[in-house]
Amino acid sequence: MKQHETIADLRAALDPLRSAGISIGVVPTMGYLHAGHLELVRRACKENDVVVVTIFVNPTQFGPREDFSTYPRDMERDLAMLRAASVDHVFTPGVDEIYPQPLETAIVPKRLGEMLIGKARPGHFTGVATVVAKLFNIVQPGRAYFGEKDFQQLTVIRRMVADLNFAVEIVGVPTVREEDGLAMSSRNVRLSPEERQAARVLSAALAEGAAMIEAGEASPEVVLGKMRATIEAQQGVALRSLDICDVGNLAAVERIDGPVVILVTAQVGPVLLIDQHEARPQ
Ligand code: PAJ
Repeated sequence: MKQHETIADLRAALDPLRSAGISIGVVPTMGYLHAGHLELVRRACKENDVVVVTIFVNPTQFGPREDFSTYPRDMERDLAMLRAASVDHVFTPGVDEIYPQPLETAIVPKRLGEMLIGKARPGHFTGVATVVAKLFNIVQPGRAYFGEKDFQQLTVIRRMVADLNFAVEIVGVPTVREEDGLAMSSRNVRLSPEERQAARVLSAALAEGAAMIEAGEASPEVVLGKMRATIEAQQGVALRSLDICDVGNLAAVERIDGPVVILVTAQVGPVLLIDQHEARPQ
C-alpha cells in the first residue's frame, strides 16, 4: 500500500493507471476506521482494479461549536487496517494541502442541504459537498463509495453528481451495525458503557417503525408517534429529530405508499448519533 500526503504525489501514481484503462474506486473517510468503513472498502475492492481510500478530517464541515479538534484520530491504526484490507493507495493530506488559501468557491446544496441535519448544522453539507467535489477532482475515480448510514449525505452527493455532471458513479452501501443493532460510527468510542446501552433504542425504534410500515401502516404520524414513545422512554437519549421521507428527494411524506426512509438523530451523552432505516409497504 502506498501512502500519499500531497495531491501531486497521488496524481503521479494514479494518472498512468487511468490512462491505461485501469478502473479506480475511491472511499472518502475522516479516519478512525471501523467495520462500516471497511465494508465500503471491501465493495470498492470487489468492483474496481485499484482502490484509493482518503483520510481527511475536513474542518469546513464542522460548525464552530462542533467537535473538529476532538474528532477521534489514529493514523497508524487506520493504515494497518487498510493494509490488511489490501488497499492500494491511501491519501492522507494535511489541511494546508486541501485548503492552501481560503475558498472563494463552494458547492452549496440548497433544499437538500438545509433540511433535516442541515437545519441543526448550518453549512455542514456545503463543507461536505465541497470537499467531496475536491476529492473527486483530485482522484478522478470511476466509482465512489458512501454509506447509507449518512443517508442525507449520500443523497446530497448523488444530487451534486447529477446536477454538475461529475463522471463518477456513486455507490451506496448498507449500514453496518454492532451486534445489538447500533450503527457503527467513529464517535461511538465517546459513549460511556451506560450511554452505549441506551443508544440501542435508536436501531430498535427504527426496526419497530419499519415493521409497522411493512405491515401496512400508511400514516407517518402513527409510525412516528409509536417510535417517539419508544425513544423517549429511554433515559439518557434526547431525541433531536425523527422523520419519514421519500427515499429519492427526502421530502416529508403525507401518506406512506412507496419506498421511504426513516431518519433519526439523537443526543446521547456527548455524541449526536444518526441512523436510518429504509422501508416500503408490502
Ligand atoms: P466518515 O464519517 O469517516 O464516513 C466515511 C464513509 O463511511 C461515509 O460514506 C459514511 O456514510 C460511511 N460509514 C460510516 N459509518 C458507517 C456504517 N456503520 N455503515 C456503513 N457505512 C458507514 O462521512 C464522512 O466521513 C465525511 O463526511 C466525508 C464523506 C469523508 C467528507 O468529509
